[in-house]
Amino acid sequence: MPVKSVSRKVQGALDRKRLPRHVAVIMDGNGRWAAARHLPRVMGHRAGIRSVRAVVEAAREWGIQVLTLYAFSRENWKRSAAEVSTLMRLLDEYLRRELDNMMRNGIRLGVIGEIQGLPEKVQAHLEEVMKATAGNRRLRLNLALNYGGRAEILRAVRLAIAEAQAGRLKPEELDEAAFSRLLDTGDLPDPDLLIRTSGESRVSNFLLWQISYAELYWAPVLWPDFGKEAFHQALEEFQKRERRFGGR
Ligand code: FPP
Repeated sequence: MPVKSVSRKVQGALDRKRLPRHVAVIMDGNGRWAAARHLPRVMGHRAGIRSVRAVVEAAREWGIQVLTLYAFSRENWKRSAAEVSTLMRLLDEYLRRELDNMMRNGIRLGVIGEIQGLPEKVQAHLEEVMKATAGNRRLRLNLALNYGGRAEILRAVRLAIAEAQAGRLKPEELDEAAFSRLLDTGDLPDPDLLIRTSGESRVSNFLLWQISYAELYWAPVLWPDFGKEAFHQALEEFQKRERRFGGR
């Protein structure tokens, strides 16, 4: 599908009372952005960090409570060793550079996914930033790292079984709310809006349980071209939709 670049400068007013509480984003298209410029793929990821900064800044400014970014899936290990190690290095650099900004702007870092599968240096850095920002309340920024939705559900099922075997959970007490609390997002509201960039319309194993009632928005731009304006357009579209949650 043709991918437009967003040059529109006009931003209509958003209704602050009807903003999504939780926005989840599948950041897709870094490789294609680089290929279109005859650059190596990793340059696309580097450019993608500018979009991460812009979206975090806008979410904080507009009063969105939770932003979850799909930064590295369990499937991404299949990429070349060079690309994987660049992604890990970019993540590490991002954490190092952003800590001050997170502290100044009330941003709390969280991680979903299997953090223990990441390189030790990255794990240590994530723990450090999560600890330092734990008291921040303005925006919760979650990075999905080594994340897969089915794997997350399976881990939650295993936890539920272990709790039941230990006599701490009766099977009939395991309702949707109790199960949600066993997921990596256990302390967070479900996403109201899922954005995927690059014009692809797939959910790619992202937050499978949690997006049951989310509005899906396919942004027709590659991730490095997704900035504040494109994010604003996604929110404008969200505000036009009528959410019925299965009711009439
Ligand atoms: C998808 O584009 C993007 C990724 C797999 C990684 C996303 C990572 C970043 C934006 C940079 C690091 C993030 C943080 C939070 C510091 P793709 O490579 O699949 O693009 P393609 O489909 O065009 O090949």
